[in-house]
Amino acid sequence: MNTQLTDDEVGILLAAAVHAPSLHNTQPWRFEVQGLAVDVLLDEERKLPLEDPSGRAVHIAVGAAVFNIQVAAAILGHETQVAVQPDPVRPEVTARVFLADRKAPVPGLSGLYGEIAERHTYRGPLLDHKIHPSVRRELDEAARAEGADLHWLTSTARLGVLLGRTDDADLLDEDRRAERKAWIGGDRASDGVPENVLGPQPVRPAFVRDLSAGFDSPHRSQAVFEPEPSIVVLTTHDEDTTAWVRAGIALQHMLLVAASYDLAASFLDQLLERPGPRSQIRDLVGGRAWPQLVIRIGYPAQSNGHTGRRDWHTSFDRWF
Ligand SMILES: Cc1cc2nc3c(=O)[nH]c(=O)nc-3n(C[C@H](O)[C@H](O)[C@H](O)COP(=O)(O)O)c2cc1C
Repeated sequence: MNTQLTDDEVGILLAAAVHAPSLHNTQPWRFEVQGLAVDVLLDEERKLPLEDPSGRAVHIAVGAAVFNIQVAAAILGHETQVAVQPDPVRPEVTARVFLADRKAPVPGLSGLYGEIAERHTYRGPLLDHKIHPSVRRELDEAARAEGADLHWLTSTARLGVLLGRTDDADLLDEDRRAERKAWIGGDRASDGVPENVLGPQPVRPAFVRDLSAGFDSPHRSQAVFEPEPSIVVLTTHDEDTTAWVRAGIALQHMLLVAASYDLAASFLDQLLERPGPRSQIRDLVGGRAWPQLVIRIGYPAQSNGHTGRRDWHTSFDRWF
């Protein structure tokens, strides 16, 4: 029986983990490996105190990294189990992925491995193609398998009004703009969102977040976006650290399934970053569950660049 992960296995697991999405590509994680367990820790220095004051977004990013580890473990033949905040003495250990002894590639999850590097956030216009109900059902099941739910909006009218107000408020908020500017635009190789990944500048109204709104991004073209995209809200029953990590696991599960159908997604996190708009989104999806992500999803009409990642070695410690 194996009691240690090999160096090659650690490399495959962590190279997969760092492909996870994170708000502004901050990559707020560190990793430790001990025996057959991989710990994902929150990197406090990579938090965004103004746009993510509660820590919801960083925990979602950790959850997404956890799911990538589970998928990579599946292809290596390990079943996995996840514990959130497993160590009361070290609360910074946000999640622990336990790997069972190696057998054979785990069906289901291992089929998503190829999508880990293919999935990218897409901020350009979408084609006018509907998502087939059977594909939507698969996305629903992916989120539900991880304890979250997807609410597909039947009308985007109320969301559009709210988005207009939130975007206006954001433009006037110099502190939030300054926080964003540290991560967005220009040339960036290993973290943040470079200009060539921002997509075209949307002609408002548009159901896409222009991450560089309020500061110069001189090389971008303008585009009119689709008036009625598919918008889905990912919710959890609870609202705490565990729920946020579970939301991240569910997000990444549904995004990898979406990528397998050539669907692309982007996020409207500005709607959830302040309590007022967030409670309105909560009402929009029935008033009971907690909205954790607002996702625009569909078939991309063009391509955009890809964000970089820090080498996983820079955020890794092996304990034994
Ligand atoms: C919790 C969370 C919130 C995000 N919010 C936004 C957003 O509001 N707008 C946006 O364009 N991208 C958003 N993103 C996507 C990140 O910018 C993206 O994941 C990151 O730049 C890495 O790029 P990739 O997803 O293409 O790998 C969000 C991601 C996460 C995990």
